[in-house]
Amino acid sequence: MTAETNYDTLFGVMAVDSGLCTKQELQKSQKKHKVESQANPILLSDLMVAMGYLTKSQAQRLLTDIKTSKSSAKKIPGYKILGKLGAGAMAVVYKANQISLNRTVAIKLLPKRFSQNPEYVKRFYKEGQAAGKLHHNNIVQAIDVGEAGGYHYFVMEYVDGKTISDDLVDGGVYEEERALDIVIQVARALEHATARKLVHRDVKPKNIMIMADGTVKLADMGLARETTDLETAQDEEGKAYGTPYYIAPEQIRGAIDIDGRADIYGLGATFYHMVTGRVPFMADDSAKIMKKHLRERLVPPDHINASLTAGTSEVIEIMMAKRREDRYANATELLEDLEAIRDGRPPVQARKRFDVSMLEKLEEGDSVQDETDDYDEETIAKYRVAVIALGAFSGVLSLVILLMMLL
Ligand SMILES: Nc1ncnc2c1ncn2[C@@H]1O[C@H](COP(=O)(O)OP(=O)(O)O)[C@@H](O)[C@H]1O
Ligand SMILES: [Mg+2]
Repeated sequence: MTAETNYDTLFGVMAVDSGLCTKQELQKSQKKHKVESQANPILLSDLMVAMGYLTKSQAQRLLTDIKTSKSSAKKIPGYKILGKLGAGAMAVVYKANQISLNRTVAIKLLPKRFSQNPEYVKRFYKEGQAAGKLHHNNIVQAIDVGEAGGYHYFVMEYVDGKTISDDLVDGGVYEEERALDIVIQVARALEHATARKLVHRDVKPKNIMIMADGTVKLADMGLARETTDLETAQDEEGKAYGTPYYIAPEQIRGAIDIDGRADIYGLGATFYHMVTGRVPFMADDSAKIMKKHLRERLVPPDHINASLTAGTSEVIEIMMAKRREDRYANATELLEDLEAIRDGRPPVQARKRFDVSMLEKLEEGDSVQDETDDYDEETIAKYRVAVIALGAFSGVLSLVILLMMLL
């Protein structure tokens, strides 16, 4: 009798897919599970909690997601579920047949908790409609949005290929030329979206797919993100849902006017990971990673991969500037530089920016240095001064009153 049930297998796949544990941790758990469950049957999920790879609440949430999503996916009218394609931080993606046209599609099923927020549901449909107006070879085509059995779903073009993340999790590093080709295709997708006033908000390796013929497709375009997604990431200790390796500083700060420059940061962080084999900022929990996005100076990519051209390194640094005003203003400007590098010319926009920022700093009489002030701390400092001033003032006031009473 085999120890591992289908259920355990699915749980393992999803735990890794959603970033809760590493492949190695899963393998260790599975080995131990095989041995232990011979004596007495135990669920893989319970064992992984016991081994400290998952928290109880993470395991619980994953189990609930698995149990409920499949049965409701089967209830979506007009589609026949063929199997599971993957899972992310907030959803499960299924391969399905669209019965009317007899074609294969991908269906993303959002967890039930999303439906409980009417504001989110409104945005989900609004952005779904906006995504429906996008038509670009480098964007996964939106097909339909709807609700079935209390679940909201998003039907899209099925992409037969792999994600960049699939390559990176195995420690892969991309050749510069290959990475450039991919990033150029994504930048074209972003340019198209910007023209239609759509921001992606979650550009990352898992949302970039590559087909066998080399065509790159940006996935999840126009899929509204829940703001509490970030809060979830902040709440979770250790291995969090949706670890924020690629998120722009202004998104961490909760800015409401997020624009295309946030996507340029996400693409820059992805580019960085592709050519160096490392995420730009690493720490053992989400909060620390986010702090680094806000404050820590980026290690230039050519310091990690010395074979990288100076041009590519500069472009990545500008894409990942902490202040969005210091980044490329839009994907069109970015493309100008990416294509220049591809053709062996120096990046025009990057050089321009570099010159201007150096001049400004010299004029200010500053040494050229990191100046990513965190306004949170600034605000705290101001409060502190105010409190001290108020304290001093009330102290003096009571002294005066005391003196007046004595006289
Ligand atoms: N349109 C699609 N066609 C084929 N596979 C897809 C498609 N969209 C997503 N997937 C697969 O499903 C996985 C999970 O996707 P998703 O839930 O969007 O994760 P994330 O939230 O991390 O982006 C992806 O890593 C990918 O392997
Ligand atoms: Mg995705």
